[in-house]
Amino acid sequence: MNLEKFKADPRMPKHIAFIIDGNGRWAKKRGLPRSAGHKVGADNVKKQIEVAYDLGIKNVSIYAFSCENWKRPKKETDYLMQLFEEMMDEYREEFIKRDVRIIFSGDFNDTRLPENVRNKAKKLVEDTKEKSEFIINLCINYGGRQEILKAVNELIDAKEKNIDFSKFEKHLYTAELLPLDLVIRTSGEQRSSNFMPWQTTYSEWIYPKKNWPAFGKRDLIKAIKIYMGRNRRFGEIKE
Ligand code: IPE
Ligand code: IPE
Ligand code: MG
Repeated sequence: MNLEKFKADPRMPKHIAFIIDGNGRWAKKRGLPRSAGHKVGADNVKKQIEVAYDLGIKNVSIYAFSCENWKRPKKETDYLMQLFEEMMDEYREEFIKRDVRIIFSGDFNDTRLPENVRNKAKKLVEDTKEKSEFIINLCINYGGRQEILKAVNELIDAKEKNIDFSKFEKHLYTAELLPLDLVIRTSGEQRSSNFMPWQTTYSEWIYPKKNWPAFGKRDLIKAIKIYMGRNRRFGEIKE
């Protein structure tokens, strides 16, 4: 395949999201603890973000921890929190020099998130806020329905009237991101699990069978090719 030609294709998505699913199953298949799947999965997040960056994609959203994931055993949520902290340290070193902006979607006032995670996230957002080339949106302690309620409550507090899409969207975590073109959920599960119900109304969804730790560059390129072959009609008639 001619990668340069592929990269120049005007149908290249501008904003893609990964619902990174299947870490636990990947580990189980190999007789490893679930934590091993999360570790390889976290390393793969960085790898696939780099692939997306090299392809010229502008925004990447990563669904890494849902509000509902607190239902898991404490040992697992503790380990995931530790991984998020490590990820943020790595991203600071790797991505800041490349003009990358990092934002977070999710409730960071929630004290179930360790203080270190909350502080590091805040600092990363602050230190990269002037950057613009590429945006990584880390969805941690995120719920799509919770996000919509947050927006509604903020609008009520601000005594806003005649709310339209544009006014509403200013109160979403994704306010400064491009429209979400493509959602890739690994592991074969075909549901949203509370991921961006507002933003995905006209997104394309692709469900590769592979578990997230095994999802590589070729799989991403394959998914993008499928996306490029779709006819996005947005309600119109497009032959
Ligand atoms: C995705 O993998 C990571 C998170 C949801 C945090 P899972 O942990 O959901 O893995 P499976 O679905 O149990 O295999
Ligand atoms: C969705 O995966 C959430 C994330 C990837 C962060 P889950 O593994 O939590 O979803 P369900 O429970 O299978 O719907
Ligand atoms: Mg899962």
